[in-house]
Amino acid sequence: MSTATSSRKILMTTALPYANGYIHLGHLVEYLQADYWNRFQNMRGHQCVYICADDTHGTPIMVKAREQGITPEQLIAKSYEEHVADFKDFQVEFAHYGSTNSEENRILIEHFYKKFKDGGHITTRAIKQLYCNHDKMFLPDRFVKGTCPNCGAKEQYGDSCDVCAATYSPSDMKEVHCSICGTTPVLKDSESIFFKLNDYKKYLEEWIPKHTANDVAKKMLEWFNEDLLDLDISRDEPYFGFAIPGTDNKKFFYVWVDAPMGYMSTTEQWAKKQGKSLQDIWQDPSREIYHFIGKDIARFHTIFWPAFLKAADFKSPNHVFVHGHLMVNGEKMSKSKGTFIAARTYLNHLNPEFLRYYYATKLNGTAEDIDLNLEDFVTRVNSDLVGKITNLASRGAQMLKKKMDGVMTSMNAQGNELVLHAHAKGEEIAKYYEARDFIKATNEIRALADKANQYFDEKAPWKTLETDPAGTKQVLTATLNLFRVLAIYLKPVLPHYTAKVEKLFGEKPYTWADSQKILLGTSIQDYEHLASRIEADKVKAMVEESRALNEKIAAEKKAASTSAKPAATGAAVKTEDRNAEKSSEITFDDFMKVDLRIGTVVEAEEIKEADKLLRLKVDIGGGEIRQIISGIKAAYSAEKLVGRQVLVCVNLAPRKMKFGMSEGMVLAAGDGGSDLYMLSPDSGAKAGSRVK
Ligand code: 2FM
Ligand code: ZN
Repeated sequence: MSTATSSRKILMTTALPYANGYIHLGHLVEYLQADYWNRFQNMRGHQCVYICADDTHGTPIMVKAREQGITPEQLIAKSYEEHVADFKDFQVEFAHYGSTNSEENRILIEHFYKKFKDGGHITTRAIKQLYCNHDKMFLPDRFVKGTCPNCGAKEQYGDSCDVCAATYSPSDMKEVHCSICGTTPVLKDSESIFFKLNDYKKYLEEWIPKHTANDVAKKMLEWFNEDLLDLDISRDEPYFGFAIPGTDNKKFFYVWVDAPMGYMSTTEQWAKKQGKSLQDIWQDPSREIYHFIGKDIARFHTIFWPAFLKAADFKSPNHVFVHGHLMVNGEKMSKSKGTFIAARTYLNHLNPEFLRYYYATKLNGTAEDIDLNLEDFVTRVNSDLVGKITNLASRGAQMLKKKMDGVMTSMNAQGNELVLHAHAKGEEIAKYYEARDFIKATNEIRALADKANQYFDEKAPWKTLETDPAGTKQVLTATLNLFRVLAIYLKPVLPHYTAKVEKLFGEKPYTWADSQKILLGTSIQDYEHLASRIEADKVKAMVEESRALNEKIAAEKKAASTSAKPAATGAAVKTEDRNAEKSSEITFDDFMKVDLRIGTVVEAEEIKEADKLLRLKVDIGGGEIRQIISGIKAAYSAEKLVGRQVLVCVNLAPRKMKFGMSEGMVLAAGDGGSDLYMLSPDSGAKAGSRVK
């Protein structure tokens, strides 16, 4: 990474959000940190361009449009408007926001494809895939449900089992059915077009460690112990995407092929507005290129994408910055708990700059997950941003303007020293911003605010207004200068807030260098309200609205899929049978066979290789500890469970799973995924007591 002090040219991107869903607080972890970085670079005098777009293609978008009875084009147009409005209201400033469904992107992907073919990196062969005769389409794995071939759990997705974490192909499942209409799909041969990824194995093995952080590189290189598999870049019609040339509009590029190309085609649209070409920007050897992404899509960006770029003779990014996921209150975001919060829902209740500030206090430039603890959020905003920082201005400026003539004066020695100390911190804070260590940047800023508050409180200017107006003015002048420096340092995080500070002091938009000035003898403008405390009720109302919104969406989806189901076909009957089976009666004796006990979780660990599983050690009384592998990772983090009492079925036959034996089952209620609630006894229950 360049550390040159002369002006740098930077192109940066964030992952393109899918056009079939709303922007939520999880997305914002990425868009906000990238926005801080972009604004910081520009404040430093660099030419940084932040590009993003909607990711518009693929089966889910096509299916959703069908469900709503509109065309995919109408669906993506609607999302586009919503996304752009959400970003704008969160103060995310893109140089250009495009769409992968653009003419530039179509031309670009055809160019890439020709290069792949000319270079000998394309191969074709027939593969068998599941086809739904009712919906007249091949079914991607996530659109197939059935019984897990490994453990027999029902209603699992076509690629992996939520219960035992086995991965498989949908054709290995039993009772397979289309998740859209419920009918049984058939296996059908189809010619697929593959990109020979392994041609780039050596190249990537060298590329990855140089362009990603160590932990990311290590994880990605695990794929390199064996040959890299050919990547199927084609999908059969019907598919919403770009037709593959030479296939009579029968085959389409897989969405993950044209999505990253959207970075370039959107850059091209921006370049055209500057009277330049894509080549001028992307291929400029002196321009740095960075992608900000979440760890879940690292493989696409650090393996597939650099290989595509290499194959088409394009420059690869200088670095792929990978961040972690958002947890809310220590758990994965949950629709039913109301913590899967849409950007718009947040905005209906709270000031966007509060989240911008809070995320900055949590992000350190690594792929660690971050936690939005809603109580901590309220405390931090109220005590730091409002209590420590904003109060300096609201008290200092209002006193100077309302009780005095509103003109700043000189500073006393102590005030001067404090301001110089704040100036001296500028480069250190800049270094943290550059490294995307926003935690350290905001820590330093907060420490400066503490010093300013100490000074203000110690000098107590409200007491000396009458007795020592000249001295009082000096204190207010130093306080306001300190506040001004803090506001400049915070500008990448709080751009609108700082814009009001610019107005207060009657100055032009601040650059980083402006932080090093001192204002003496300046008339200040009227104090404009900057920020007020969050009331906890607002957070509650937001969570409530969020829960209701997700319920409504789920109900609409259910209604759409029910109405799409064919009437009384054999498969539909089969589905009903399955439900009937679930609720069939048992005798009292049957019930008594189930041995349910109170257990205490004594150890809990995440099974790294499995998306859904935790390994629990549960004390079931009488000194017996059972290992139970439980599919509750999406709803609970391991550390939260230790010490907790749970209900355990202890006479379930032990099951050998991919990650060891599971000797029982912990009881939970809900739809699965993050919608799971573990059942616990009332306080006072003893480990081992039998449930009666
Ligand atoms: O995971 C996602 O949300 C994708 N829509 C990200 C695409 S990023 C890029 F490749 F376009
Ligand atoms: Zn179907």
